[in-house]
Amino acid sequence: MGIEAIPQTLWWAVDETTGLPAVYMVDQSRLPLAGDVLVCVAHEGVCLAISGMAVRGAPALGVAAAMAMALWAVNESDDIVTYPEFAAGIDEVASEITATRPTAVNLFWGAERIRALVRDNADLPLDALRQLIVDEALAMAAEDEDRNRRIGAFGADLLPDDARVLTHCNAGSLATAYFGTALGVIFTAHEQGKIAGVWVDETRPVLQGARLTAWELKMAGVPFNLITDSMAASVMRAGGVDAVIVGADRIAANGDTANKIGTYGLAVLCKEHGIPFYVAAPTSTVDLTLATGEGIVIEERDPREILGMSFSGVIEPRTPTEVSALDALTAQGPWEVPIAKGHAMEVTRKGGAYQLDGWARIAPPGVQVYNPAFDVTPAAYITAIITENGVARADLSASLAALCAGAGSIDEIG
Ligand code: MRU
Repeated sequence: MGIEAIPQTLWWAVDETTGLPAVYMVDQSRLPLAGDVLVCVAHEGVCLAISGMAVRGAPALGVAAAMAMALWAVNESDDIVTYPEFAAGIDEVASEITATRPTAVNLFWGAERIRALVRDNADLPLDALRQLIVDEALAMAAEDEDRNRRIGAFGADLLPDDARVLTHCNAGSLATAYFGTALGVIFTAHEQGKIAGVWVDETRPVLQGARLTAWELKMAGVPFNLITDSMAASVMRAGGVDAVIVGADRIAANGDTANKIGTYGLAVLCKEHGIPFYVAAPTSTVDLTLATGEGIVIEERDPREILGMSFSGVIEPRTPTEVSALDALTAQGPWEVPIAKGHAMEVTRKGGAYQLDGWARIAPPGVQVYNPAFDVTPAAYITAIITENGVARADLSASLAALCAGAGSIDEIG
């Protein structure tokens, strides 16, 4: 047990079936009960993985964007022989990637970093440029882990001994190239013996807390209790929380922070109960082009996330008769199980296993839904923002500007 047990979020390797370079990723939409690994040899595959939330979490999205562009460069641009055509192709791919999800700025940051690399190397032969893009994408993954470990060290220093910390959504290793931001702080503090326990919000509607944060903390051996989002207030009132730490999808220049829906409510609760509210994020999540959080576009997702619950698993037939029945039903492809009342279930044969993917309706048909995936917490509710360069405190806008320019530590700035 330890954080080494948590799988890599995404990696670059040769796909044995096609012999092509590929992006591999653990399918987070099905974790923890099905552990599929997706293999993408074209950028469209990564785009689908992003919109389907197989890969999610702001820093991981930045790396995924860069790797998708690297896939296009090495697998999909063979017929391009001139630099202008290549640069136009890269721009087109960047637009496709950034159209997948609007809120996390890291996606745009990752795509822009590759575009800038292409602009700055117009004189290179195209094959050398293609290799440079791959190297850059891999370097971005390595840098991300390094940044998270630095965030972890800065953040752990802010926690008291025997800290009881509450977190929301998954800002863990799976949300980054590796190690995590908010969970990176918790992992670091745990290694230092400072964590008495973690409260994990389940995080309706997609349940990143119950599915992913709980899974990571379990593997890392960090003690925690899973709670529903609506329990946080009474846990705080009972005196059970010393700090709240969350990640971020986009931080405006004044410190206003977009993060998973429900974060704002926690910040308000922290103010009421005198609990510090920390945001842990790399400077690549800070969007200095936005003066305030007003300009942050909030993604609205499929109403089905609220109308019901998705689930995945594996069927384990008990008898040869059950095996033959499942083989027959899945012989022509996935078997759609006929279920009444609008529930949906599909069984897919994968090698010798039978994977189950379903959606159970909860609300009656015909219900109107509002499903924003993120909210914005005003800077006034944030005690500090923990970055890889130090900790920004109020006045957040001055601190953030200095940290994004690469300044040293907080105490110089805060
Ligand atoms: O919709 P998701 O799962 O991509 O949302 C993720 C979050 O809101 C995280 O808290 C945020 O991206 C920070 S991840 C280090």
